[in-house]
Amino acid sequence: MGRTENTYKNSFIIATLLTVMVTKENSERKDRNMNSEIEVRSYCSHDLNQVKKILLNYTSPTGRVWNENAVEEMMSDALKEQPDGVFVAEINGEVLGFAIVIYRDWFNIAYLDYIQVKMEWIGKGVGHKLIQKCIKWVEEKGARILYTETEKNNERANKFYQKHGFKITGSIPDYYQEEIDAVILVRKLLHFKTSFQFRMSQGAR
Ligand SMILES: CC(C)(COP(=O)(O)OP(=O)(O)OC[C@H]1O[C@@H](n2cnc3c(N)ncnc32)[C@H](O)[C@@H]1OP(=O)(O)O)[C@@H](O)C(=O)NCCC(=O)NCCS
Repeated sequence: MGRTENTYKNSFIIATLLTVMVTKENSERKDRNMNSEIEVRSYCSHDLNQVKKILLNYTSPTGRVWNENAVEEMMSDALKEQPDGVFVAEINGEVLGFAIVIYRDWFNIAYLDYIQVKMEWIGKGVGHKLIQKCIKWVEEKGARILYTETEKNNERANKFYQKHGFKITGSIPDYYQEEIDAVILVRKLLHFKTSFQFRMSQGAR
């Protein structure tokens, strides 16, 4: 290969690398900008159809398949148990995900019952916004810990929870179905020590 040909080849490689870097940076900037526009708010009944679509299009690692009745039942049960603990992430009227969290004041603990992001929005920071909201909400209620469970083989969820301060504290064999265990994840909250001491001073067992 001649010297000029080599120079052309090198210039081409550098130009391609630069284009890839600029495109990646632009796409990350776009993601960051969109991220700041995502709003997390309380669930309203008119969100139900969008929540149904999210779950109906989701393939669970357990193989669970949702149908409309099951989604309606889950949302209705959640609203009965904790009317103010259901949140949706939204951008321009599109629901991108939702979370259900329950505060049990008899023990100052909170349970993250469900968190789910729309397939095409996974990995774009929607889950982060939802879990931040849940943590803030339960801390305001006075919870000491937030706990949840997920499939042992759900790598994304396990990584996501651990990135948000949850620790795996145990597992339940065959929880979802035969050979699909659950792991239990616990996140200590701001009030971990104080409300424990408070409960003790109130004579809790
Ligand atoms: C688990 C789940 C809720 C996490 O939500 P998510 O929106 O995918 O998670 P996030 O985007 O907030 O964070 C995941 C990754 O995206 C990154 N990220 C966060 N903001 C980002 C942004 N603006 N742009 C690009 N990436 C971003 C995070 O750093 C993280 O990356 P990492 O894992 O390499 O560190 C979601 O994947 C989901 O719904 N899964 C299916 C259902 C499920 O498993 N639910 C939980 C168990 S019941």
